Amino acid sequence: MPRDVTLLWGLRSPCAFACPHCYFGTIEEHKGNLPQQAGVLSHLSRADLTAPTLTAFARTLTGSPVERVIIAGGEPLDWPATLGIISLIKGAGCQVVIATNGIPLTRPHIVEQLLALGVDGVSVSLDSADADTNDTMRPSRSGRFGYHDVLAGISALLKARGDRPGPRVGIYTVVTRSRPQEITDVARLAADIGVDYYVPQPVSLPSDHQLFDALSHTPADVASVGAHLERLYADPHGLALPDPSYLQRFVAAISTQDSGHVPDCFGGARLYFVQPDGSLWDCPSDRRIAATAPEHQRTIRGGDARTLFAARPTCTNCSLFSRDCVNMWPLVLDMPRLLNTGVPR
Ligand SMILES: C[S@@+](CC[C@H](N)C(=O)[O-])C[C@H]1O[C@@H](n2cnc3c(N)ncnc32)[C@H](O)[C@@H]1O
Repeated sequence: MPRDVTLLWGLRSPCAFACPHCYFGTIEEHKGNLPQQAGVLSHLSRADLTAPTLTAFARTLTGSPVERVIIAGGEPLDWPATLGIISLIKGAGCQVVIATNGIPLTRPHIVEQLLALGVDGVSVSLDSADADTNDTMRPSRSGRFGYHDVLAGISALLKARGDRPGPRVGIYTVVTRSRPQEITDVARLAADIGVDYYVPQPVSLPSDHQLFDALSHTPADVASVGAHLERLYADPHGLALPDPSYLQRFVAAISTQDSGHVPDCFGGARLYFVQPDGSLWDCPSDRRIAATAPEHQRTIRGGDARTLFAARPTCTNCSLFSRDCVNMWPLVLDMPRLLNTGVPR
């Protein structure tokens, strides 16, 4: 059985940040009004699987087609049981990349554990090279943490890693229509602080989202985004970037909203999405999730990775394009490049 599946695993729902554009929605909109539809995420969800259920599934990864697990959420590193689950996933021979808001990296015992467990990559979210702009886009719920703590967390991890090859450390930046310059500004900052890889990604919002008009790109924004991406690829400052074809995919993604066809899609073939309640989907696209018939909905609860991913197509032809599709390439096809480039530090 080929080992070629990437699991994007939203492990936990809670997060100390309250990003208004987050896929998980906001606490304000969900307080007293928790979404009930299958596949709709909430930081307030009470349906997250328990540690024993999660560890039982993680144990079945050994000998399964799962090659890589991207652990996200919510914030995965605020939950102590995450470290034990990472240990099981690594023990199963899978690559592990953690997507984090960066604040847990300011806690020395977290950094020590990530190093001891041999985590392969740590992707930290930072949406602006400017502290105030970042903290407006990514406000912490308590108001106590922000940009400077995120940079301190990244520096602590890089310092503790020292000369060791891993984990590779990256920055992910959500790009919105009013600030295309972040594409190049954050790259410069990332290089200055010694980060290894960098992924700018377009904001992806449904057209009825209240921030859609303010944040989502329109065809009028394509030229400036394209120019900043070209500048980035012309001078990546020593950072590993997604394959250069990402530039065209990014521009194509923001040139359309929700029409479009994704030929040879790897969702449901080499990529799956696990939600904190255990729901298992072909990919995280809200359109693809909404189109999944109830009788085809699956879960990792009580499941075995050796059978869940055993019978699958080599690729699928999907007609449910969304801007989020472009964000899947760096997780699946580009990850070896991002983690293993030999970029000198
Ligand atoms: C949901 S977070 C979870 C992991 C972790 N708590 C973090 O902050 O990185 C994963 C990534 O999704 C990005 N993200 C959230 N909502 C998004 C949206 N609407 N469009 C594009 N990216 C989004 C975040 O910025 C972050 O880089």
